[in-house]
Amino acid sequence: MDGILAYLRAFDYLGELEGKIALVKSDFNVPLINEAGGALRVADPFRILQAAPFIRELINAGVVPLLVTHLGRPRGYDPAFTLDPLLGPLSKALDKRVEIIRFAPDSGTFAPKQFNTDYLNGLFKDGIIPLLDNIRFHPDETKNREGLSNILAGVVDVSIQNSFGTAHRKEASSNRIHEYLPGLAGSLLVDEIEAHMKIKRPGSPYIVIVGGDKVEDSLQLMRAIFRAEKTTHWSNMFNPELNLQIGERLVDYVLVGGHLMYAFVYAQLTMLKEENLKGLPGEIKKDLRGLREVRLKGFETAKEGGYLYNAEEINLAQGLLRLYNEFQFRDPEPLKGRRLLLPIDYIVKRGDTILRSALLHELMDDDEIVDIGDKTRDLYAGVIGKAKTIVWNGPLGVDDEKFVEGTRRLIEAIDANREAVKEIGGGSTNFMTSAYETESGRRFNMGFRSTGGGSTLLETAYDSPVTISLIMSARKLLEGGYGTDYETLRKAAIRKHLVRGERH
Ligand code: 3PG
Repeated sequence: MDGILAYLRAFDYLGELEGKIALVKSDFNVPLINEAGGALRVADPFRILQAAPFIRELINAGVVPLLVTHLGRPRGYDPAFTLDPLLGPLSKALDKRVEIIRFAPDSGTFAPKQFNTDYLNGLFKDGIIPLLDNIRFHPDETKNREGLSNILAGVVDVSIQNSFGTAHRKEASSNRIHEYLPGLAGSLLVDEIEAHMKIKRPGSPYIVIVGGDKVEDSLQLMRAIFRAEKTTHWSNMFNPELNLQIGERLVDYVLVGGHLMYAFVYAQLTMLKEENLKGLPGEIKKDLRGLREVRLKGFETAKEGGYLYNAEEINLAQGLLRLYNEFQFRDPEPLKGRRLLLPIDYIVKRGDTILRSALLHELMDDDEIVDIGDKTRDLYAGVIGKAKTIVWNGPLGVDDEKFVEGTRRLIEAIDANREAVKEIGGGSTNFMTSAYETESGRRFNMGFRSTGGGSTLLETAYDSPVTISLIMSARKLLEGGYGTDYETLRKAAIRKHLVRGERH
């Protein structure tokens, strides 16, 4: 299938790129675990392995790749987030030595001794692949500011976007950089975007399951998903065969788990008014009233530990509740008229005791919500069993290693539905799936396994910022906007465009 990036595949331009230094934007933001002794080890190299074949093609074609990725969310330089743990798995996947081009905190940028064309070319000649240290050490990256894109453009010749996992972000190394340099699409990005085309023409019921710990991001993405219509995506909009009506909504249900549970518990409790309690049994009423000021443990620790539970999150959750849920605890039939499905019970840690099925009104101060409860697992499995399209991002428990029951039941339910178009995405999601596979000796049918989490959610309906940036860049290239240095590439792009155009 020729998708939106058909004319921009870096793979088609290998001849023109030979001998050039290419920034290869990647998503090597992999899950890490602490070894005894404190060293960090890659727990699941899935993202590295998915990206490696394309990088090997570049190397074989004589293109000098400067690998660029983030790892975690450092705020400025922080030695705990350097890319050292990636060296082993990357070297193995590329069958080459890999060297980190270090960030020099004193200078506020990458070490000039290493970060220059002569040094990078020299490394490549010696068979060594350069890996730029965590790109988020530079404050301009997440702010999409020109300072960093300018610095990068001073060293590399071209940008190749191969990170689907960050495709939903506007960052300097994936967006702003195209003001200075043409951008092409790496094979991983192209493959992922083409695979996502399937879920943009979905069968109903279409359900999205959202868990994980990126609460604010997920709430924002959920808002976008709820609003999306089947016509939101460009290729559907112009396809008369689909006969879509304006206003036909895309996603039927969004199911919630993971750290989002806290945001929704607090949102429900803070929105509670006397009128919402009418008709409820006296005991429940009393409990719920008492809960307005509840202090849940996970919430408090998460706050101190740096998770971004904040007023904005509670506001967002309240907005979604008003529009798509109503107070679920009032009604024993959770599917009735609702599109946002919240857990109806929780696994709760109360001191040393584990409660398997605590209801909202049974929560107490210092309780820690750690997973969806038994009844919720049945409810979610039932909804998943009837779905025709399933997208899942983020574990349902609050810890990938300790509280895995909810997520494992979800994996089983998705596996059991053999009719639906399915897609799962994200570092922890893939990690938990493969860990369960290793432990059980089974292989689950999860449909397409995407490297992207948040980007998978965005791609359910919209074109990602990286796709849009690449298309704008291609236009600039074709118009000669990058200057005479790119004349060969421009001519090649025109040729490819014409050749492909004739085929259609
Ligand atoms: C991911 O893990 O989902 C991607 O690497 C994006 O990470 P981010 O949410 O920190 O941008």
